[in-house]
Formats: sequence, C-alpha cells, structure tokens
Amino acid sequence: MKVTVVGAGAVGATCADNIARKELCTELVLLDIKEGFAEGKAQDMMQTAALLGFDTKITGSTNDYSKTAGSDVVVITSGLPRKPGMTREELIGTNAGIVKGVCENILKYSPNAIIIVISNPMDTMTYLALTATGLPKNRIIGMGGTLDSSRFKYQLSQHLNCSPADLNALVVGGHGDTTMIPLIRYATWNSAPVTDFLSVEQQQQIVNDTMVGGATLTKLIGTSAWYAPGAAGAALVESIVRDEKKLFTCCVSLEGEYGQNDICLGVPVTIGKNGWEKIIDLKLNEEEQAAFNKSADAVRSMNDVLKTL
Ligand code: 2OP
Repeated sequence: MKVTVVGAGAVGATCADNIARKELCTELVLLDIKEGFAEGKAQDMMQTAALLGFDTKITGSTNDYSKTAGSDVVVITSGLPRKPGMTREELIGTNAGIVKGVCENILKYSPNAIIIVISNPMDTMTYLALTATGLPKNRIIGMGGTLDSSRFKYQLSQHLNCSPADLNALVVGGHGDTTMIPLIRYATWNSAPVTDFLSVEQQQQIVNDTMVGGATLTKLIGTSAWYAPGAAGAALVESIVRDEKKLFTCCVSLEGEYGQNDICLGVPVTIGKNGWEKIIDLKLNEEEQAAFNKSADAVRSMNDVLKTL
C-alpha cells in the first residue's frame, strides 16, 4: 500500500505522522514545493521509527511527482492556511490554482488513486478536484465533516464531562463557520440522546462553539489548526486502506441526495477500499433540511467563483 501526502506543512506533516505511527501503508511520500522541506520532515519522522516501532518507510520529495507514482491514496493539504480573522472562503483565489495543479500532477503518476481533500475552502476545493479530474465521484473525498464531527464530540464531552470516544455526533453541511450543521438531535452518549442531559442553552452553546471551532483555534494559535485536521485525514486513510467501511461525515458529490445536485457537501458516508461507498440518508426535519439547503446555497455561490478565476 502506498500513500502520498501533498503539502508538508503542519496539517500534512501531522497527517503523515499519524499514518506512519499506525503503519497504514508500507510506503509514504510527503511532497512539498519548498526546496528540501518535505525531505527534512520525512527524515525527522523516520528518526522516530526506532523509538515508536513503526515500519512505514517515509520519503520526502521537492515537487517531484514521479516519486508519488502508484499511490493508492493521496491526501491534498496544499495551499495557504487561515490567518486570524480570515474565513476559509477568502483562500479560494490562491488555493484553487494550487489544488488544480496538484490534482493534475497526481493523476499523471497515480491514475487509480483515491483523493482526500483537506485544503480550504474545503467544499469548493473538493468540487474543483472532482470537476478538474473527471474521476469517478467515489474517489474524491473532502475531509471537513470528519474534523467538525470530532470537534463537536469534544465540545459535547466538555459539557457532559465524559469521554469523547463514548459519543456519537455528526456535523453535516459545509465546512465553514456559518455553513456547518452540528446535528445535536442525533447525538448520543453511548446510545442515550445527549439532549436528555443538556439544557437548551447548553445545546446552543455547544453548537455555536463547534461551528467556530477552527476560527477559535486560528485566533489562539495565530494560524490554522493541525492536530485534529491531520488526524481526521489519517482516519479516512485508515478506513480506506483497511476497508473498514466506517461511517464519517465527508464532503462528497451529491446527485439528488439530500435534495441537492452538482455540489460537494458534507453528509454521512461509509468509507472503504473504493473511497466513499454509500451515502446514509438521514431523515432531516424541516429546520435541519432548511439549514442544509442554506449551506448548499452558500457553498454553491463559492463554487461559482471558480468560473471567474
Ligand atoms: C480547520 O478547520 C484546517 O479547515 C481546517 O482547522
């Protein structure tokens, strides 16, 4: 099994580190445009192998895509990260060109790869990857909802004083501060509805804090977060390479599901050896469906910007 992570910045390097520690593949390539950067990070990570006891071979590459040849899965993290006060959407102009170029290079050497998109604005970059490559829709997966759902579980665990691992919770819709939809009605604490244990005010607080989860961290750290985004990318790689068929919220191409067409948006899907395999059709209530439609409208107008670039 061979995996490539494009972009050796904080998110890409963390994703690669998680992949190596879990030995999700025999060969892992980290690629970056900055001279020597990916090679250095790869070497640093390889120098943890004796300490951590993993056998994945990590190599770095300065923009030489021939090194990525034959990858089964490619994770794209390239592009500018957010600065404090910036929305993910403001990155579109720069990141669209970068992501398109990366996709073209990847496909030259790994025509059968499954592509995971992390670059922001994630929903639009996933749509761009789908339309620019013309790949079958199941091979293009946007990571956003996986991260947002994990952040939702964190916020719930803080209020319930429980283990995040005991929680089931989904965030659907876009991966934007105002477009994501934490579905608190569906969230459970080992099967018990979390709404049984939280006041309406607490529920609202949790939803709000989840939605601005990324922005809060950007403000605190001074740049976009990386531990959870990197781990979320690696969790998707794991479900693909081990054909786990785990359920994640991912940004995928909708063809009528949830009442939407010609868009990539976050919905629950199973992830396995074929990429995303099945969309799970939740029975959204009127209010949730209205929020989903509003989220789709916002993402669609962002996608329209691609035509002007
Ligand atoms: C975040 O929300 C990187 O978009 C990512 O932190």
